[in-house]
Amino acid sequence: MFLKEEIFNFVQKHKDDDIHKLLLSKQELSGEELKFAVQQIEGRQRVKNKLPEWYNTPRILYPVHLSLEQCSSAETAKYKASLVQGDSLIDLTGGFGVDTSYLAQKFDSVVYVERNPDLYQIVSHNFKQMGLNHIQTINSEAESVLKDLELVDTVFIDPARRDNTGGKLVSIGDCVPNVIELQSIFQAKAKQVLIKLSPMLDLTQALRELDYVSHVYIVALSNECKELLVLVDYTKEETKNPQICCVNLGKNDQLEEFSFSLNDEERIDVGYATEVKKYLFEPNAAVLKGGAYKSIAKRFNVDKLHPNSHLYTSDRYLSDFPGRKFEINEVLNFNKTSLKKLKTITKKANLTIRNFPSSVDSLRKKLKIAEGGEKYIFATTLMNEEKVLLVCSKLTN
Ligand SMILES: C[S@@+](CC[C@H](N)C(=O)[O-])C[C@H]1O[C@@H](n2cnc3c(N)ncnc32)[C@H](O)[C@@H]1O
Repeated sequence: MFLKEEIFNFVQKHKDDDIHKLLLSKQELSGEELKFAVQQIEGRQRVKNKLPEWYNTPRILYPVHLSLEQCSSAETAKYKASLVQGDSLIDLTGGFGVDTSYLAQKFDSVVYVERNPDLYQIVSHNFKQMGLNHIQTINSEAESVLKDLELVDTVFIDPARRDNTGGKLVSIGDCVPNVIELQSIFQAKAKQVLIKLSPMLDLTQALRELDYVSHVYIVALSNECKELLVLVDYTKEETKNPQICCVNLGKNDQLEEFSFSLNDEERIDVGYATEVKKYLFEPNAAVLKGGAYKSIAKRFNVDKLHPNSHLYTSDRYLSDFPGRKFEINEVLNFNKTSLKKLKTITKKANLTIRNFPSSVDSLRKKLKIAEGGEKYIFATTLMNEEKVLLVCSKLTN
């Protein structure tokens, strides 16, 4: 339908318009044609930041909202492509094809599989528009394609949520296809399998259910956890002790990485701070999601402030610490005299609560401090159970 010139022209003419106004006002298109054209305009507007390459490629087709929500961002797809290699790849749950398109840059033979016929048609068209002519597209069920598959180097699978309600995900079994059930066929048909899962999934449960896991990648984008990637490698020995790689992708291809193993984490005796030192460190979201609380303290030789807060302190500045870094300007006890003193230090601050009996809002009211500015205040509890405010300045390198 999109290829009809009048629809293409309509989309071009209204590409930056408000779609709600478009639908309400009288237009040169109507009915199904108008609905389809509006889906295109809305889709393109939605991917502007997430998928700039799609946004800038002419005559790309956009599917319904859900498929755009489910697809990876360009940044995380690009990162995924750095994790796998070989000659042949099959993406069993192709979706909008974002992951396939980036992974395809690393493989000579690439197959995209998608069960939804509309999505399959849209993506087959888009791959041609993007010059990705070496990708074969198949409209089928992953399970039946797998049965007839010859040995491939890499299988990629990004299962969909069974209910599509956006509700909280608890186990891999809530996804389709169910990768736990597919494990034996994976082992017969592939050297490695990269599985994309939601960061809301319980990692330890996933590791109990999956075999031959060599690496887990917890991927955050600008300090927000986006994906949990599990790399299953049948060419390596089963260890049940994978490397957990915590990755925070920043702007301009900046990347913070921290790797550890759950076995090591369990064995480490962490040092606690008897006093607050010169600098404060807060691990990024990927490190925290991975649970590397003790491993990070040991690797960077920093002291943890308290068992229930993941804040660390040191007299040495550690520019490569994966997370936020601060110089501590003042340590104030949480009492009337100190609160008075705070007013002389700053009237504006970014407030963070960690292991402290108050919400940000009520503490802000109590401190009478406006939001923003150059100062950062951490309200927290020390090892001796003293409640303190750490007034800090953020350090950027
Ligand atoms: C989370 S999306 C994939 C997004 C994709 N990685 C991307 O970046 O665009 C999952 C897709 O798997 C498809 N799917 C679910 N079960 C399937 C099955 N058994 N066989 C093939 N495709 C399936 C869904 O229709 C959905 O489009």
